[in-house]
Amino acid sequence: MDDYIEINRRNWNDRAAIHVKDEAGGYRVQAFLDGADNLHDIEHAEIGDVKGLRIAHLQCHFGIDTLCLARRGASCVGLDFSPVAIAAARDLQARTGLDAQFVEGNVYDARKLISGDFDMVYVTWGAIGWLPDIRRWAKVVSALLKPGGRLYLLEGHPSLMTLDEKTAELRPAYDWRTPEDRPLVMDEETTYTGDTAKLAHTTTMEWLHPLSDVVNAAIGAGLRIDALNEHELLAWQFAPLMVPVEGRRRMWKLPDGFPRLPLAFSLMATKS
Ligand SMILES: C[S@@+](CC[C@H](N)C(=O)[O-])C[C@H]1O[C@@H](n2cnc3c(N)ncnc32)[C@H](O)[C@@H]1O
Repeated sequence: MDDYIEINRRNWNDRAAIHVKDEAGGYRVQAFLDGADNLHDIEHAEIGDVKGLRIAHLQCHFGIDTLCLARRGASCVGLDFSPVAIAAARDLQARTGLDAQFVEGNVYDARKLISGDFDMVYVTWGAIGWLPDIRRWAKVVSALLKPGGRLYLLEGHPSLMTLDEKTAELRPAYDWRTPEDRPLVMDEETTYTGDTAKLAHTTTMEWLHPLSDVVNAAIGAGLRIDALNEHELLAWQFAPLMVPVEGRRRMWKLPDGFPRLPLAFSLMATKS
């Protein structure tokens, strides 16, 4: 179990190298460099004006969303444990001159690695499933926030993640709560962007955290819940049966005729 960091890091190094090349176009790297904003509609609608805010972006991947927040006028620090992702993030920062710094490290060490207090901790799309202990994560978030500072968390819905994406009817496949010491061990040859490049390190270790665990972890860490929203859209094609949403960039939904399910959730909470 202790080697989950190293196992996942190797996999994320491979993915980061593929994602930053962006041959499948999912990350819109060139459009971003040309000045486009890369945030999805959901976070755009929910985060409000970030101008002048100091934002810590945890598990920032190769920094493109961090830099989009900076382009909106925030001063940002992004943290990720993948050296490949952080090197790519620093390169994008140097090319754009936006107000962001990037720190390499485990999210659980974020308070030690990043100085200062933040107006917002920003965590989106595919982050907490890599972490065994959600309460420990929430304590780190709380420690990074100044009093009155806000958490913005936007994630794939844990109920969706219990389903087998490869089956036509999305059959239940995983327990809704993954024990800390018994991670789900996954094996994927390629990444989720549709890029056909093969990963050299295909194994990952992952955890499903029920919505109640996430909410209670935030409360337990001293955060007041401002809103919990559920969404019928997702930022990646979780299952082959999902279809792109017309008119909305990089969003996916279940096809017409399939029972409606929550595909994502967002949690907004304030440090009291
Ligand atoms: C799906 S990405 C984050 C989503 C991001 N919004 C994006 O799509 O650009 C997940 C990120 O979590 C990072 N990660 C996974 N486990 C981590 C850990 N323990 N500490 C820090 N970063 C971690 C990976 O390196 C990866 O960049």
